[in-house]
Amino acid sequence: DNQLASEIVIFGALGDLSRRKLLPSLYQLQLAGLLSDQTRIIAVARNDMALKEFKQLIKDSLQEFIDETLDAQVVASFLEKLVYQHLDFKDIKAYKQLAKTLSSGQGARLYYYSTPPAIYGDISEGLQASNLINANDRVVMEKPIGHCLESSKVINDQVSRYFAENQIYRIDHYLGKETVLNLLVLRFANSLFTNNWDRNSIDHVQITVAESVGIEGRWGFYDEAGQMRDMVQNHLLQVLSLLAMEPPAELCADSVRDEKLKVIKALKPITRQNVKDKTVRGQYTDGFLNGVPVPGYLNEEGAKANSSTETFVAIKAEIDNWRWAGVPFYLRTGKRMPQKQSEIVVHFKQQAHNIFSESYADLPANKLTIRLQPDEGVELDMMNKIPGIASQMQIQENKLDLSFSQAYDNQRVVDAYERLLLEVLRGDQSLFVRRDEVEAAWQWADSIIDAWQSTNEAPKSYAAGSWGPVSSIALIARDDRQWVE
Ligand code: BG6
Repeated sequence: DNQLASEIVIFGALGDLSRRKLLPSLYQLQLAGLLSDQTRIIAVARNDMALKEFKQLIKDSLQEFIDETLDAQVVASFLEKLVYQHLDFKDIKAYKQLAKTLSSGQGARLYYYSTPPAIYGDISEGLQASNLINANDRVVMEKPIGHCLESSKVINDQVSRYFAENQIYRIDHYLGKETVLNLLVLRFANSLFTNNWDRNSIDHVQITVAESVGIEGRWGFYDEAGQMRDMVQNHLLQVLSLLAMEPPAELCADSVRDEKLKVIKALKPITRQNVKDKTVRGQYTDGFLNGVPVPGYLNEEGAKANSSTETFVAIKAEIDNWRWAGVPFYLRTGKRMPQKQSEIVVHFKQQAHNIFSESYADLPANKLTIRLQPDEGVELDMMNKIPGIASQMQIQENKLDLSFSQAYDNQRVVDAYERLLLEVLRGDQSLFVRRDEVEAAWQWADSIIDAWQSTNEAPKSYAAGSWGPVSSIALIARDDRQWVE
């Protein structure tokens, strides 16, 4: 039986993620009555700061990052839960101080590592040295877990010395998004889709995760990673694996993760020989977004003039198994694209024979669109007769459109971090990534990165505010297909 964690300890509590996402999400959980009265939030960071000053900072962050009007009473009781502890993460002895701040009671603790991954090991060692790890405690590890397969193994090894795998929650916030979770329901609660989800019915799939934002003041960090490590290795592969996996035997953490892992392992490696045909790397140059000029990647604040880091990736991915043989999955993700728009589009095969050819020469294939964000929903493009008495049947393509905000009476869309934090508090690992998944994903991503390095080509440029380099259009056009826009 899992115990609800009663102390939440955030390492790196003054960082961007903590102020933008973690603390606002905890406020929302408090507002929804999901935190117990006993829950305390211990914010740990390097700076020496008075509690009063810290509380003010968090109050300001809540105001800045939460769209709705704040509930003053809930804010007050939320701030009451906060404790601030400064700590030199690398000083093993300093954790004694933290031990004094934490309660000595039996309640389970949630340790949230929101620091650079290179010190996850140090923190774990420090906690252990002060006897702060019990069998019921949990640790959340933020991405990026490593820079490649080897470095991810090092980090995982360091943390696993102190925590068992069933205590480790590797977060990929895409797994907490409403529509990503809905993939399970869509696929396995609807026989229409369950029975037509394979190479016999599906022609190809497109997954687009476009962002209009650029680097947002984190050029140095981003430049070390690039879009492949920042988005594809984790978010896109997680979405892909839920979309393509076999039905899990049951809805428990390990059944689902077993099936996801098989998909990632079945991805065809991309090699030096075919990397040019199957992938595109891009980097944005000066351009316009909504009519406003924005600087190119190399002209962003803090940029190095000659960086060849990619801000856009397109890949033709193939899954080598019975279900998907011959069905390409085209992935595309980039910064500074025209709008924030993430969606999956499943293109079914064309109708084999057309009896309406007199009015409609080329029947378009059905298309299922799953909108991850914004405006979450599911949409099916299908053919329909135009109502009317005309002697010749008039038909056209139209949509069955399930917009969540309309269907569910404008329910607030729960932020992924709210859901995921709650899952950790409850001790359910289903929505977290297992070590073998992270490693298989790195292995595939590394093969592409290595191939890029061996060809040593500069990324293709695309103007900020466009849908990526022209070669991305060519990538899919070579197969006589095109990106949905
Ligand atoms: C993060 C990446 O993991 O995901 C960011 O590090 C990216 O670069 C972000 O902007 C996108 O998340 P979302 O939820 O806004 O799609």
